[in-house]
Amino acid sequence: QELQMNLEQIEKGGYEHFMLKEIYEQPRAIKDTYRGRLLRDEGIIKMAGVEDNMKKFLNADRIIIVACGTSWHAGLVAEYIFEEFSRIPVEVEYASEFRYRNPIITEKDVVIAISQSGETADTLAAIKLAKEKGAFVFGVCNVVGSSIARESHAGAYTHAGPEIGVASTKAFTTQITVLSLIALRLARAKGTMSSSDYRLHLQELELIPGKVEQALKVNDHVKEIAKEYLLSTNCLYLGRGYNFPVALEGALKLKEISYIHAEGYPAAEMKHGPIALIDDRMPVIVIAINRGHYEKTVSNIQEIKSRSGKIIAVVTEGDTTVKGIADHIIEIPDTEEAFSPLLTTIPLQLLSYHIAVMRNCNVDQPRNLAKSVTVE
Ligand code: AGP
Repeated sequence: QELQMNLEQIEKGGYEHFMLKEIYEQPRAIKDTYRGRLLRDEGIIKMAGVEDNMKKFLNADRIIIVACGTSWHAGLVAEYIFEEFSRIPVEVEYASEFRYRNPIITEKDVVIAISQSGETADTLAAIKLAKEKGAFVFGVCNVVGSSIARESHAGAYTHAGPEIGVASTKAFTTQITVLSLIALRLARAKGTMSSSDYRLHLQELELIPGKVEQALKVNDHVKEIAKEYLLSTNCLYLGRGYNFPVALEGALKLKEISYIHAEGYPAAEMKHGPIALIDDRMPVIVIAINRGHYEKTVSNIQEIKSRSGKIIAVVTEGDTTVKGIADHIIEIPDTEEAFSPLLTTIPLQLLSYHIAVMRNCNVDQPRNLAKSVTVE
């Protein structure tokens, strides 16, 4: 028993929980994901699974992404990235819905399955179905040799290292990294991105681990904010564009480990319903980075403020506009908009972590949840 506990302490590497350790591992994990694949000096991306099947990707009518939970959120971010970079239509499906609705799949479809564990029953069943219909199946998994990895025609591992905490953290950011590499490689092959833009993105992706490191420095500040909201019963997360899926992911993290009801929405959808919920007891976490539709997000923040909602805003460092309106701001480094989810998600992971710890929740093994869902 004692030996077991000591072993666990060692595995946690000095952190109180696996989740926190895994949050802090992200700079290294992201680096491991692109190591040997992103060759900036040569201006190339090398991924055997993509290279060997380039024709399939280039001839694809569309890409269908199948996944569950956090991996599905990574798929949503990838939808924005693929469509922007490589101009291939993308559909993102819950594996559990896809497999049961007699989907239209053809030999010209590329199906990308995203799964940390590689064992999620619904995702596995979805790719078996896609294979039967003749689609090309590409797996993005973390666990090497897992069922989904073996069942796929080709794939790319995320190389995040073992993820023990039930709440997925480094799996999410490394999935986005792999999918960004694929999208950039296809953009290059298709000529859908100018070479200067392509080089800029390679360069920027290489800077991400350092910027994640910097983003992690908000930890103490986020912990202070957490103290104010640990008794909340509801929470709203808003984001636009690339950061809409991050809002969904932030809400999922909070609900699964702290048991606080949370919902994520595209910021502009607020006026179609959720705005009715806003009062002085409703914390609203808004991703308001200084890229994309920043001004529109600022007006969303004003709408919340005028209804007395409590605003926690994730902003680009140096932001002054939102600072004057929000109750709390959390600053993160600037980056290309497409890669911003890799940074904006960091404070949201930390916020849910600290709230859950303060509520005495079992952070690494929340009630009713399993690390890999191998049942339907
Ligand atoms: C994430 O925090 C969850 N615990 C869960 O949603 C998870 O992402 C989902 O079950 C999918 O798992 P997979 O990536 O191993 O397929």
